[in-house]
Order: sequence, then structure tokens, then C-alpha cells
Amino acid sequence: MWLFDAILWFIFWILALLGLREHDYARDPPHKFTWSEARVRATRLVDQMSMDEKLNITSGRTGPCQANSGSVERLGIPSFCYNDGPAGLRHTDFTTQYPSQFTMACSFDRELVRELTERMSAEFAGKGVNVQLGPLTGGPLGRSPYCGRNWEAFSPDPYLSSTLSYVSIRAAQSSGLVACAKHYFMYEQAPVCSGPPDDEGVPTDCTQVSVTADDKTVKELYLPSFAEAVRAGVGAIMCSYNQINGTPACQSDDAMNRILKKELNFQGYVLSDFGATHSTAESANAGMDQELEGTWWYGDNLKHAVKDGKVPEERLNDMVTRILIPWIAFGQKDKWHAPSYTRWGLGDWVWFGDHLFENKHDDVRKADYADFVRQAAEQSHVLLKNDGVLPLNPGIRRIAVFGTDADYPTTIAGCGADLFCTEGEPSRRHWNGTVTIGGGSGAVYATYIVPPIEAISRRGRERGMRVDHVLRDDPAYYPAIGNVANTVQMCIVFVSVFLVEGADRVNLGLDNDGEKLIKHVADKCAGDVVVAIHAGGPVIMEDWIEHEKVKGVVWAGYPGQESGNAIANILFGDVNPSGKMAFTLGRREADWPPNNIVRKMPMIGKPRTAFDEKLAIDYKWFDTQGHMPRYEFGYGLSYTTFELSDLRVRPEHRKDTAIHKTAEAHLGPLELYDTMYVVRVDVRNTGDRSGGEVPQLYMSYPPSQRQPPRNLRGYDKVWLRSGQRVTVEFPLRKKDIAVWDVVQQAWRVPEGTFTLYAGHSSRELVLETTLEVQLE
Ligand SMILES: *[C@@H]1O[C@H](CO)[C@@H](O)[C@H](O)[C@H]1NC(C)=O
Ligand SMILES: *[C@@H]1O[C@H](CO)[C@@H](O)[C@H](O)[C@H]1NC(C)=O
Repeated sequence: MWLFDAILWFIFWILALLGLREHDYARDPPHKFTWSEARVRATRLVDQMSMDEKLNITSGRTGPCQANSGSVERLGIPSFCYNDGPAGLRHTDFTTQYPSQFTMACSFDRELVRELTERMSAEFAGKGVNVQLGPLTGGPLGRSPYCGRNWEAFSPDPYLSSTLSYVSIRAAQSSGLVACAKHYFMYEQAPVCSGPPDDEGVPTDCTQVSVTADDKTVKELYLPSFAEAVRAGVGAIMCSYNQINGTPACQSDDAMNRILKKELNFQGYVLSDFGATHSTAESANAGMDQELEGTWWYGDNLKHAVKDGKVPEERLNDMVTRILIPWIAFGQKDKWHAPSYTRWGLGDWVWFGDHLFENKHDDVRKADYADFVRQAAEQSHVLLKNDGVLPLNPGIRRIAVFGTDADYPTTIAGCGADLFCTEGEPSRRHWNGTVTIGGGSGAVYATYIVPPIEAISRRGRERGMRVDHVLRDDPAYYPAIGNVANTVQMCIVFVSVFLVEGADRVNLGLDNDGEKLIKHVADKCAGDVVVAIHAGGPVIMEDWIEHEKVKGVVWAGYPGQESGNAIANILFGDVNPSGKMAFTLGRREADWPPNNIVRKMPMIGKPRTAFDEKLAIDYKWFDTQGHMPRYEFGYGLSYTTFELSDLRVRPEHRKDTAIHKTAEAHLGPLELYDTMYVVRVDVRNTGDRSGGEVPQLYMSYPPSQRQPPRNLRGYDKVWLRSGQRVTVEFPLRKKDIAVWDVVQQAWRVPEGTFTLYAGHSSRELVLETTLEVQLE
């Protein structure tokens, strides 16, 4: 064996000396091999394979997991197990339902996201999953406030989304699991459907939307999170359902070959979303390396295409090599076991067709998982409004809780793995019980759920309080709600928006007439009203936010299975809220860019949309148009106060530390991802209790550049005791101050005066300084 290894090393060093690729990938410390080493080994395996064996690896087949590739046992290559998703391991039991990505983004805490993803990946690995179909690194990014999948992704701000994408890919792969960044790309809405809903309320006759965006918008807005995923060494990337300029994303030579594999220098593999493949030779030649189950364009069809010379055999070899590289590099060959669960059910043995699969019910959670999930949720809750009512005053002895969103959900797993178990009229479907996560492929079963009523009731009891409740939204219960509300000192109303893949929102209101419920409670409550919102996207609050009784509002996102404990700790003051909005809460639907979603089939042809607002999505649109949001991007209150001081910037060169280098064109000698300047600001806790703050850095380009007015370029989460002060650093990389020059087709740092703002939100910018940039 040592001889074989010695030969490999020899080949590897020859390649390295020839300057081939070795500089592209560093070895991620937890991994076994560099990608260059893995490529040599993968190539050697592919050389020994028959055509059928190669085809086995590039196609999906039925197996225990959500998707499964074919094996080549003769060469020690198992069937790979693929499973959703971004908030936990979907389909099975004894795993954790984590807060969703949209919620975690509100923590503005890289370290928290890192730890969460690392724990989640250990659960995937523990069950025998080879490839996690997650995280979402920008498809959707959040262009439209109506998109039913925004909650699965981080944030419509490309800097926040990119930085968290980088961190989460590194963390996901730290156990050796292969992460799959998705959905590539510009996938910003569900298909347009013209048929009636089926028995389960799922719309029919659906057509995917074709999107177009200009080159600059692609480079500066929709691509950066994927660039960071590649830089983090992501093993796989999933191509999306939408069409790009009339071509299905999974068949787009431009998206996959030119941008992803050439410009971003991605050397892992592209796999198709379920049912997103639409051709054989075209897809293979355009750069799609693997077809997941649901369609059969590869397999025998690909064999014929290769035999007929429509797909070069080298391309098939390239596909297989790419699929094997992460598996070899990350060391899965030696340490992975076969799946111990099945996507087909929660029983001990489950039939699917003529296959029988076993679920061993392995508990893969770390001992302290409950504490951790609760903390992650707590640190992502955003306190939006607080007119002196929170934390609950110790003098309050009588409270009441309202809304089905405070209650146990009807079921955890009874609706199936998509959680498509909504109630009510088709156009007004809602989740019955507390909303801890959304539906569709981003859903994941909780092992248990702590609803708000359980935690608040327990906490109240411990304090000797009287805790009443009416956990129904239906107007039939309004008299009972009124009777209870007018006897208590504080009313806490829980409302929600349950978002589901495949069903974009029709408006930005609350489910189940939440507005009416809030107003009814507020009209009747003898004391103050606090509103808690579980939602995965913007909610218009104008109808009730100024009601004189509504004195507190907590944004709870989709917090996962420890929901109730997290919000009780915030209401009762054990935890000081520290989250900030990772997207904008506007006042009117018309304040978002026009035409941000396509809803109707056109008379002729396919549904199409152009991203005409260009870079100005979310807060950048509000800033450009001068619209006043209700609560702006980056906003969030605390039970203490913070002061920023001494904003300063100076040139400081730091080498990029990414695992992988992209091949993006740029002008000037400095590497695109090297740091050029470091900005610093001091943060002090000026209140009388400990708390967490997110100092934020926004940048304006020189006025000659037609860029959005302000752009997030740094953030940090700091925890400070009363009176404590720290200095935080915001490194500015060349790319962070560059623009995509469409004429030169390269990143270029503009000359001139940049303005830097430090603040507590995108509108509370308390400090300002300038930066003069001269050409390198
Ligand atoms: C393809 O994969 C399946 C499932 O793992 C396996 O049973 C079969 O033998 C493989 N075929 C070849 C040609 O290796
Ligand atoms: C929701 O759940 C409750 C309690 O389980 C039940 O009484 C009610 O009928 C359900 N449906 C609706 C639409 O509220």
C-alpha cells in the first residue's frame, strides 16, 4: 500500500510543481486530503470503472434516504445518502428542529451560526447522511417579500447572507459531511400556477418563472453568497427550478460552466433539485453533474448520449470525478456508516414499493441540545417595541395569553415531512398551533415542541402569578377573550405567518386574521398588550402597532422546538434580547419594489421577470426611494443601552484565509479577498444590565458610483456587562469596496471618497468617517 501512496504523492507533487490546482485548495484541517490529492485518487477510481458504473454514480435511485446515488461496491464506493435540509435533518426522529436560517440571521452572530451548523452536521453524520441538502446560500436571497421560501435562507442583504454562508459551509463540513449550497441561482419565487388546488391544497398546472438580471446585479447581489460557499470549500451545489433567461437553471451553460465552474473555480459537483432536470446531453454538457431522483434524464439516456457522441466520455468522467472528490477529501470513505433511518417513515420497518427500510431511532443529539437550541432562539429574537413593559414588571400578578400560536400544534409529524397540514379555506390556510418552522422541503420534525403557553404558564406559576388564556383565534371566542382580557394586568397575544414552499404569500398580513385578534385584545385588555410574532417574512403592522395599548412587540421568527422557553425567558427578563432584523419591516406593500413577484400566466409564452430594481432590494430600495420603514434592517432593542464611539479606519493588509480561491477577474495586484483596510469602533454598555449588541458598519461608495446609498460591510455580536467597553473590528476586503465593472468584466476598486457609518441599525447611524481610496 505504501508504494501506491508513494506513487500518488509523486504524481501529486509533479502536478503541484506544474502549478496545477494545488494553490486553489488548502486542506480544511478536519479533512483527510486536499482536493488535489482527492482528485488524483478519484481519477484513478474513475479509470477503473465501466460505463454502467459511472452512470450509477451520476444518477439517483430509490433507497433509504431522500435521494440516493448508485454504488460501485467493487471499488468500495457506497450509495451516497442525500437529505434535506437547512434547519435540521428532515424526515426522521431523534433529531433537532433548529431555528430556521432567516431567524438565525437575526442573531447577527457568526459564532452562534457556526456552532449551530456544526451540531446539526453531527446529527446528519450520526444518521449516516453523506450530503446535507443545505444550507441555503442565496436562492432565494429574498428579493420579494412574498416568497414562501425566504425563511429557509439567511437574509436579502448580500453581505450578511455571504458571511453566514461562508461560516455555515465551513461548519457543516467540519464533521466530514458534504454540504450542498442551494438553490443556484436567482431562484426568488415559486412557479406560477393556473390550475385549481389539488386535494391537499397544492396548486396545479405550474410553470417555473424565467428570470433575467444584468451582469452587475448578478455579480454584486445574487452571486456573492455562492462565491463564499465555494471559498468555504463546499462539496456540492444544487441547481434550481427556475429558468435563467429562458433556459432551465440545471441546463444553463452560462450559470454552471461559465460562472460557477470557470469564474468561481468550483471543483465540486452540481446536482439537480428534485425534478429540475429537463434534458440529457444539454444538461450534461452545460455542467450538471448528477441527477437526483424524480426524473430519468441521466441513467440509460445518458449512456445513449455518450454512445452517440452527444456527450464526450471525458465529460462523463469529469462528472464522476467531481462527485467522488469531496467524499474522498473529507475522509468519508473511512468513517461513514450506512443510513440508520429512512425518509419513508418513522416506524421500525417501513415499506416503500418493494423495498423494506429500517429506522433504528438512533438518538444523534448532543446531551445539551435543548439548552443550545433555546439559546440560539433567544439570541435571534428581536425586541421591536417596548414602552416600558418588558421585561415583565415583578408587580404584575395577573396575565393572560391569547392566540392559537401560543398553543401546542395539532401534531408534529401527523402531516408528513412537508408539514403541509394547514386548516381553513384554501385561500386562507393557516397552521393550527404555534409556528416553530415553515413547511415544504425546509421543514424538519421536532422531537418535541415547547409552545409558549407551556413555558409562560410554568414561569408564571413559579412566580405565584395567575395565568389565564384563550388559545383560539376564531371570532366565536371573542366574547371569552374579552372577558379574560379585561381582568388582567397584561395581555400577551401570539400571532403568526406560516410559510410554505410552493405557495408564495398573497399579502403581507398575519394568518388567520391576527390583526383582528390583536385589536380585539387591545380594545378589551385592562392592562398593557404585548404582541409576539412567529413569522418567516415581513409583516405589515400599521393596523395595530400604534394602538395605545400595544406597548411591546417581540419578533420571534421561526425559533424551532424550544420556542416557548426562549420567548418566556425574554418576556420574564432572564434573557436580554439582542437580535436585529435581518430584513426590512415596511409600512405598506407598495413600498417594496414593483413587480417583485409574477403571479399570473402571461397570454403568450412563459412567465418571465426582469430584476429591474437591480441592486436595490430590501433596505437598499427603501433607502433609494426614501420610504420610511416601520422597523428598518438592523433594528432591534435591548433591556440595556449601548454607545458607539471612536470610529476609525486605517490601511491594513491581511491575507485571505479561505479554503478555495475563485478565479474572478479583478484589476490591480492585490488579491480580491485580501483585506485592505480595517475599521474599528468602540462599543460600551451604558445601561445597568448585561446584554448583547450588534455594532454595524455601513458604507457609501464615492458619489460617482451609482450604488445604493448604504451597504452593510461589517457587523459583530458582542456581549457586555454594565459599563464594559470593547473594540470591534470590521475588515474591509478588496471585494467589499469593489464594484463589478461591466466594460472591463472585472472587479474594480473605484477611486474617491467612501463614507463609513457605524450604527445600531441601517438608519441609526451615529458615527461617520471617510476613506480616501487611490488606485493600488
Ligand atoms: C448500481 O447501484 C446499485 C445500488 O447501490 C447496485 O445494486 C448496483 O450493483 C450498481 N450497479 C453497478 C453496475 O455497479
Ligand atoms: C385547531 O386545534 C384545536 C385544538 O386542537 C381544535 O379545537 C380546532 O378545531 C382546530 N382547528 C381550527 C381551524 O382552529
